[in-house]
Parts: sequence; structure tokens; C-alpha cells
Amino acid sequence: MWKGLLHQYKDCLPISDKTPMLSLHEGNTPLIYLSKLSEKLQIELYVKTEGTNPTGSFKDRGMVMAVAKAKEAGSDTVICASTGNTSAAAAAYAARANMKCIIIIPDGKIAFGKLAQAVMYGADIYAIQGNFDQALTMVRSISEKLPITLVNSVNPYRIEGQKTAAFEVCEQLGKAPDILAIPVGNAGNITAYWKGFQEYNDHHGTGLLRMFGYQAEGSAAIVRGVPIENPETVATAIRIGNPASWEKAVAAKEQSNGKIDEVTDQEILAAYQLIAREEGVFAEPASCASIAGIIKHRKLGLIKEGATVVAVLTGNGLKDPNIAIDVSEIKPLVLPNDEKAVLEQLKGVAAL
Ligand code: F0G
Repeated sequence: MWKGLLHQYKDCLPISDKTPMLSLHEGNTPLIYLSKLSEKLQIELYVKTEGTNPTGSFKDRGMVMAVAKAKEAGSDTVICASTGNTSAAAAAYAARANMKCIIIIPDGKIAFGKLAQAVMYGADIYAIQGNFDQALTMVRSISEKLPITLVNSVNPYRIEGQKTAAFEVCEQLGKAPDILAIPVGNAGNITAYWKGFQEYNDHHGTGLLRMFGYQAEGSAAIVRGVPIENPETVATAIRIGNPASWEKAVAAKEQSNGKIDEVTDQEILAAYQLIAREEGVFAEPASCASIAGIIKHRKLGLIKEGATVVAVLTGNGLKDPNIAIDVSEIKPLVLPNDEKAVLEQLKGVAAL
């Protein structure tokens, strides 16, 4: 039986006899082949659906490790800034580990599902009238002044946990793909995957790949080469103007002969709808920056025909129900509670 990442990858993680073997059975997420989009783009396209993790995003991989190490060190409270997913994962694992969790979020800028999770897991939630970058600066400083453990991805244990996704991709494919496409926000995850692929190659000789990271156009600090003071994008998860792991993301790109580029909100939302309708895969908007990026780079010829590409779908579509409803033209048609009336209506649909 799958027991979660700390059990599964014990030998590759910083686990000692004293580390609590915390688990919500995270990891082991599906790698799904997208047949229609593969054919359309003339590549072999897979998605790593991280939205199937216990709190619905990849953050569980890093959080299980970071919270376990905080507990091992005797801490009783964790703190993070978040655009939503980190806070959901921190609150869940803190609850599991009998710890307190403090969350600082940008007021009005986190998706509804994520807020619902933090509330349910019992975190202390503070919404500041500022953005994620300002919230992160604040918690970094506060964690030095108070006896609480910072669990944003600047905590190296987060990166350790998150690198396991690269191990899984290699195990599922039987090799490293040619390209990994990944959304970039605070740039922790691209850092973690690159570390994971390198370590896996060192142990198993699977070969290396190219890392393609995608930022949202209104938050594309790395692409522009300057921090963005007021980042904007419909993909609130990656609405970040000064990524904490900026240099590490650039190193991953350079060492892997990869790319970091931007995609527009329009491209993100088109990809978001495309994979749901064509492939039955519902991921939150930020996740779909990876698909939007692949489509863009395939058109530009930067991704070659026949390449094996894995896109990381970082979060579950249900995290952000409001955007789904807003972008969709499909609205429920209200009918009387009368089988005949419903049947009449359906005849028209069935005949189409
Ligand atoms: N996709 C989703 C769904 C995210 O929630 C995030 C980051 C990213 C991509 C980007 O990952 O920061 O490692 O480059 N969310 C953070 C949060 C910032 O607070 O939940 P990254």
C-alpha cells in the first residue's frame, strides 16, 4: 500500500530516526497521456496531475517534509505567506501533526476553494492589504522574531519534498522526458524538479531533460529581468512579482538548456478550457500556464515534433470554481419538474 512520500522515498530525503513519519498519503499522482492534444501538436504529451494530492496541489509534497522537520525540531507553530495552495497544505499538515498554523494571504486575491480549505483545517488566517511578495517579506521577518517555523519554499525541506515529483515522472515514463513544462510563481517548484531529475539521473542514469518554465505575462519578472511591483494575472496562484527562488530558476533553465517564457491570461484560459473539454482534465488556471506554454513553443518551433513532453498540472480545477463558472458559456437550463418537458428538450440535444 502507498503510505506517502516520507515512507516511499525515505532513502532520498532528509529523514532520521527522530523524524515523525507524517503522511496524508500524498504523492503517487497520475501521469496521464493527452491523446488528442498530442496528435494535434504532433508530440507525446503527458500531464502530471498534482491536483490529486490530498489538499489538491503539489504543495503537499513539500509540506509533509517541512512540517515533519519542524515537528522534529520541537517547533509547535508554522507560518507561511500564500496565494492559497501553500496555506491549504500547511494548515492540513499542521493539523495532522498537532501544530498551529498561521497564514498571511493577499486580501481578496486567493481562490475560494483554497480559502475554504484553510478555514476548515483550522488555521489562523490574516489577510493583508498587500500582495504575495509583501506577505512573504513579512513572514520571513516575523519568523526570525518569533519562535515559529517558516514553511514557504525558501525552507529547503520544501524543495526536498517536492523533488519527489521528478522521481515519479521518471518511474512512470521509464525515462526522463525530453522536456518538462511547469508554471513558475515563486520558483520553488522548478527548482525542486530540476534537483529531483538530477538526483534521479545520478542514481539511475535516466538522462537529463530541458526545463521549460512559464510565468503569466502580468507577473513575468524573470522573463523581463526586473521585479514587478504590482503583478497581475487571472492565475492568482502565480500572481508573484519577485520570485524568492529567482536565481535557482534561472540556473535550472541554463543548466538544462531550457527556457523561461511568459504566456498571456488569454492563452492560459484557452488552455484551461481546452484540456477540460478535450481531455477531461480539470486543473486550476495557473497550472494551465504549462499547457499554454507548450502550445506557444510548439508553434514557434522551440519544441520539436515527436518530443516527449510532461506538463505539470500543479493544482486541482476545483480550487477556483469562480473562474470556471465565469469563463464557461455553458449555463444550466432551468426546466419545470416535468418529465415530458425535459424529454422534449433532450430530443433536440440527442438529435444533434
Ligand atoms: N501552480 C500553483 C497551482 C501554485 O499554487 C503555485 C504557487 C505555482 C504553480 C507556482 O509554484 O511558486 O513553486 O513557482 N503557489 C504558491 C502558494 C505561491 O502560495 O500557494 P512556485
